[in-house]
Amino acid sequence: MTEAATAAWATLAALDKPSLQALFADPMRLELLSARLDLPGGAIRFDWSKTHLDAAHMAGFEALAAAMDFTGKRAAMLAGDVINVTEHRAVEHTTLRGVGRDTSVEEAHALHLRMKSLVEAIHEGALGEVKHLIHIGIGGSALGPALAIDALTRDGAKVDVHVVANIDGCALEAAMRACDPATTLIAVASKTFTTTETMTNAASALDWLKAGGVADPYGRVVALTAYPEKAVEWGVDETRVLPFPESVGGRYSLWSSIGFPIALALGWQDFAEFLDGAAAVDQHFFESDGLANLPLRAAFADLYYTQLRGTQTRACFAYDERLRLLPDYLQQLEMESNGKSVTADGQPLGRPSAPITWGGVGTDAQHAVFQLLHQGTNLVPVDFIAAIIPGDSLDPAHHRNLLANCLAQGAALMAGRASSDGARNYPGDRPSATILCEDLNPATLGALIAFHEHRTFANGVLLGINSFDQFGVELGKEIAKSILAGGVSFDPSTEALLAEAGVK
Ligand code: F6P
Repeated sequence: MTEAATAAWATLAALDKPSLQALFADPMRLELLSARLDLPGGAIRFDWSKTHLDAAHMAGFEALAAAMDFTGKRAAMLAGDVINVTEHRAVEHTTLRGVGRDTSVEEAHALHLRMKSLVEAIHEGALGEVKHLIHIGIGGSALGPALAIDALTRDGAKVDVHVVANIDGCALEAAMRACDPATTLIAVASKTFTTTETMTNAASALDWLKAGGVADPYGRVVALTAYPEKAVEWGVDETRVLPFPESVGGRYSLWSSIGFPIALALGWQDFAEFLDGAAAVDQHFFESDGLANLPLRAAFADLYYTQLRGTQTRACFAYDERLRLLPDYLQQLEMESNGKSVTADGQPLGRPSAPITWGGVGTDAQHAVFQLLHQGTNLVPVDFIAAIIPGDSLDPAHHRNLLANCLAQGAALMAGRASSDGARNYPGDRPSATILCEDLNPATLGALIAFHEHRTFANGVLLGINSFDQFGVELGKEIAKSILAGGVSFDPSTEALLAEAGVK
């Protein structure tokens, strides 16, 4: 860490930490800490006024951003430089939204045209009647499609999509039960095209097609991968292999051909709007400086809590049933990106890395986990996310009530309520941020996801972490493989469990 960064952290650590109620003595607070992004699908309002950020902390974090060369690192990402240094790769998911190095944007556009042709050909019947798609992938090859499809197809989909990730056969069987092999396509989604879960599920899906009377099971498969030659070798015809660039990380890949099921379910127009929404946030992120940069400002709030207040988790509650899978998506994005103990140059991090991301959907979570938020001993910074336009067409009382509950929680966490009866005392001074979308549609969902991607990157830059590798997931995979291969012995506990489970 540079001297300037060390000095910035020291300044931040020494600042007073007034309570939220005290901070609201400033009549300009709401104006200072809230912002609105006008986007293609409608505006999104961000309100950090109920966090403990104040002008002094924000100035301190701006000094840290300068010391960590945030502007230079952001420019390097945009230019397509190798910023994923441990894997020697550029980081170019934004090029799929038309933002980045020209040659990569052109390549991404060409790949999208190929994907569009296949999607439209399927809609037009080129592969016969297609009612269902079983999308097989895991991690970044599943979470984004699952979120977008669940959020955006409430009123129906052009094709009924089932996302299957787990190697537990119960997951694939559930999808098989819901589909007819005669009218089902299989998407095999894997950046590497080697992931055990995905390849095992794909093989079983082929068997199922065959057993269901499909004469040419491979003819019903579409492959989505950064290694097209592996998909061809596995048996998929080149015309149904949709590649994406190696410089697009798995957890950033839903904009690429990994988004094929989204486009198939929604139609190309909606998928294009999804990309446009994300692109609008890219423009904002790459062109706004300092506090005007909202993903950067969100990272300031994140770091305030983990680094200066010792919080170990952060929670996201979507007060919108359509976003019930958002916390799952954010868990991979944030924890796989920034859950690391070393800096990009391999030095010990020396401070907390990413917090544990968790969350749920409101109002359900209020009746399950909010007790701890209001009265527990762990301080948990919370994000509330809601949309003003309802997703349902029932009595407007539903949505009014939903929004009232969402906003009540932020107010209650902050204000608390004193009581001499300890069990009924609410200490208050508990932080939350609110992200209020005018509407939830393909463009605003794209924008929301891109906002979180850039927020994650900004957190990584300010901590000095490479947010784009994930070596932590490898060891467990290797051990599982050696268990299956046999001939290796483990500790007594693992040996006893393996014997009892019948694996060895
Ligand atoms: O094991 C972690 C991981 O590599 C994730 O980063 C990735 O999203 C997931 O596995 C799936 O990988 P693939 O798309 O190569 O099958």
